[in-house]
Amino acid sequence: MSLLQIEKLTRNFGGLSAVSNVSLEVEEHELVGLIGPNGAGKTTLFNVLTGVYTPSSGRVMFQKGDKSIELSKLPPYKITRMGVARTFQNIRLFKELSVLDNVKIAMNHEARYGLFGALLRVGNYFKSEALIEEKAHAFLKEVNLDELAETKAKNLPYGKQRQLEIARALATGAKLLFLDEPAAGMNPQETHALTGFIKEIKEKMNLTIVLIEHDMSLVMEICERIFVLDYGKLIASGTPDEIKNNPRVIEAYLGDEVEL
Ligand SMILES: Nc1ncnc2c1ncn2[C@@H]1O[C@H](COP(=O)(O)OP(=O)(O)O)[C@@H](O)[C@H]1O
Ligand SMILES: [Mg+2]
Repeated sequence: MSLLQIEKLTRNFGGLSAVSNVSLEVEEHELVGLIGPNGAGKTTLFNVLTGVYTPSSGRVMFQKGDKSIELSKLPPYKITRMGVARTFQNIRLFKELSVLDNVKIAMNHEARYGLFGALLRVGNYFKSEALIEEKAHAFLKEVNLDELAETKAKNLPYGKQRQLEIARALATGAKLLFLDEPAAGMNPQETHALTGFIKEIKEKMNLTIVLIEHDMSLVMEICERIFVLDYGKLIASGTPDEIKNNPRVIEAYLGDEVEL
């Protein structure tokens, strides 16, 4: 069984099929790209995969251990608990909080104290708090952001903010990660650093990654397979070389300023 199985998935908005009858599979430990012109339905697909939208038809299956789970029936917080996380096209961080606190909040679902403990600040609260802090530091070390632990998110360079966003998504314990245009707005140096970062965390944490990205050099460099959406439909899938030379893909991108 594949880790993620998307079966004939459709999501309509009024008369528009933003995602139309899409079937695809992602294997464990793969890094796959999801590309397509603006408005192709890429973000909508992520929104369905993470429970933001329910499918109009079709379903999403996720393999957790030896269990097959219908992801498309779960609310977002349960999907997170399954070990699935995502980042957004526009950065979403707690800008006024430190790098450490951003990660701690993401880890907080593991906290063992209840609301009372937190209000009274007794007993397990302190133990849990210290434990989370320790775990957050260990985690930041793993993703090479520990030196910036006390820096406010808004004071990080742009490239580091993007990395922190990915790190925060992972801090939930995710093993399947959806990245929505992580290199958007980056200069070539930042994109290069991000490429290394994604490769490194994927290996270190044994992740499976689906990457939406407009930067074709990044996609072609790191993705093992690529899926192409156009007007909600899956028009091609294959290796980077196959995709580069696919006439339907070239046609879909015609007029776009994207170099395949
Ligand atoms: N909540 C929504 N309501 C109505 N239309 C939407 C909504 N979300 C996305 N769409 C439409 O669905 C299409 C696909 O959008 P999107 O998934 O954001 O594309 P992409 O991420 O590939 O650029 C677009 O035409 C967009 O306007
Ligand atoms: Mg999008």
